[in-house]
Amino acid sequence: MSDNYFEEDEFEGAVDRSVLLRTAKLSLNHWPLLVTFLVSTVIVAIIENYQTFLSKRIIDEGIVARDMDALWSIAWQYFGMTVLLAIFVAGFILSGALLSHWTQYDLRKAMFGKLQDLSFTYFDRTPLGWLMSRMTSDVTRVGELVSWGFLDITWGITGITTAVVFMFIINWQLALIVVTIIPVLIVVAIQFQKLIIGEYRVVRRTNSKITGSYSESINGVRVVKSLRREEKNLEEFQDLTTEMFNAGFRAAWLSALFLPTVQMLTALGVAAVVWYGGFQYNEGWITIGTIQAFISYITFMLWPVQEMARVFASMQQAVASAERIFSLIDEEPDIVNRPNSQKVDNIRGTIVFDHVDFRYEADKPVLNDFSLTVEPGETIALVGPTGAGKSTVVNLLCRFYEPVSGQIRINGTDYQDLTLDSIHSRIGMVLQTPHLFSGTVMENIRYGRLDAQDEEVVSAARMAGAHDFITLLDDGYSTEVGEGGVLLSVGQKQLLSLARAILAQPDIFIMDEATSSVDTLTESLIQQAMDHVMEGRTSFVIAHRLSTIKRADRIIVLKDGQIDEIGSHAELIRQKGHYYNLYTKQFQKEAAGAIPDLLA
Ligand SMILES: Nc1ncnc2c1ncn2[C@@H]1O[C@H](COP(=O)(O)OP(=O)(O)O)[C@@H](O)[C@H]1O
Ligand SMILES: [Mg+2]
Repeated sequence: MSDNYFEEDEFEGAVDRSVLLRTAKLSLNHWPLLVTFLVSTVIVAIIENYQTFLSKRIIDEGIVARDMDALWSIAWQYFGMTVLLAIFVAGFILSGALLSHWTQYDLRKAMFGKLQDLSFTYFDRTPLGWLMSRMTSDVTRVGELVSWGFLDITWGITGITTAVVFMFIINWQLALIVVTIIPVLIVVAIQFQKLIIGEYRVVRRTNSKITGSYSESINGVRVVKSLRREEKNLEEFQDLTTEMFNAGFRAAWLSALFLPTVQMLTALGVAAVVWYGGFQYNEGWITIGTIQAFISYITFMLWPVQEMARVFASMQQAVASAERIFSLIDEEPDIVNRPNSQKVDNIRGTIVFDHVDFRYEADKPVLNDFSLTVEPGETIALVGPTGAGKSTVVNLLCRFYEPVSGQIRINGTDYQDLTLDSIHSRIGMVLQTPHLFSGTVMENIRYGRLDAQDEEVVSAARMAGAHDFITLLDDGYSTEVGEGGVLLSVGQKQLLSLARAILAQPDIFIMDEATSSVDTLTESLIQQAMDHVMEGRTSFVIAHRLSTIKRADRIIVLKDGQIDEIGSHAELIRQKGHYYNLYTKQFQKEAAGAIPDLLA
């Protein structure tokens, strides 16, 4: 992964053919659509050119020859062709749109599935915004290339080829003149489109910089003022807007010049045809209809050339989008089931951290030689300053990350020999920031165990102390929550996630600062529920507040990734060490009624 891997819009390089090929293959999954699409497109191109040929015959055999019968019969043919054309145009638009949507659907599904499988380490190093753009703009771009882009190319190539074939059938000398113009037309058109797209790229890039500096100045308005940076900021801002304006202006000029230029080239072709055709007509070698048909063919070719130029010029960008999408789809999760891993039925045995070392980033050790044996049913409280590694211990236990060295054993087996799913299904977690999905209260709790009956959901909610507030909501358990739903307080959300964890009936229960941002009333509700849940279960509690910690069987004071002190509340108090100091400080504050964080 290069340094500027996450940079957008840097597509100066050539189109990567293997990626282009793989992109093209995406449409093969829907080959009936693809075939309909391509066949309709080819037929449309042929009919369009055949109609030009028919209009030549109308002029020569009908009008010039003053033969009304011939005129009528060819005109009827022309009309029939128009009907066919309408049918096939509808065919390619419909199949093209479907192809585009299916491709986008496939890509999003593949990415979404991959995101579910990828390990935490991937999300640690991948910005969320980067992932979002993969799912949105990149997918749209690739979907459009696979449908409309390929359509324009197929239509363009077939259109130009059949036009050339018809021209050679009608008159090869004139056809030769036109054929020399085509490459010039194509090269000029592509160059123009490249320049235009380049300018728009500058516009986009400066625009996002401007947006960035807007929000920076707005957010930091006080700092800006106090440091007297207004002048400097304004200067930078003006430079950016000037740059954007200039690029936009150049793009507008190029666009304005593009059409006249290709039209001029076409006009040159028409002039050559009229000049040489006129000479041939004078000699009696060709008909008026032939000259008319050639003029039509030349002007017709203008459109496919333009469209193809647009596609080729923007292809770089679409292929770069495809490349990033593929890089995500091809990503291998860091944590996977080992071959021959066993399912674990329950985690009711001992849990052993055996000389575990862990770090998120090289050179920044988080846990050093961490060893701990937890007996079934024990409640362990983890205490220590922010950054001490408390969450890391439970992250490792859940196998969101794996030890760098050492072992974690569940029921006596190295947990890397157990399947991930079976471990996760036996662990219930309540975290500091509760997460609700869009859906009803009932659905959100049921997420803990999908086959739970309504009564079980309600009883879990009762146990969590959530039932009372739920019944007060407008629609009770059917109330919509999450995005676009009713606004719940953090404490209420926390009670719902607690109910969800209770419903799952896990063997191990983890609470990571679940009470740190709730009011005291909710805290006492959670406290009661916790007592209930922890009954007979192995539990890990990370909390700032003393009242929660005191109940644990053993308290672990973490310091610099190692166990500083370990023991029950009473034992640690007797030791008069680190914990004792924290406790006495806390005790004084709690007595004063402040109930602040124990170790903040
Ligand atoms: N995803 C991560 N990537 C890199 N470093 C991390 C990550 N999560 C935590 N850390 C670092 O690891 C150390 C321990 O963090 P953590 O276990 O969250 O501490 P605690 O929960 O005790 O506050 C901290 O220095 C923190 O900055
Ligand atoms: Mg933490």
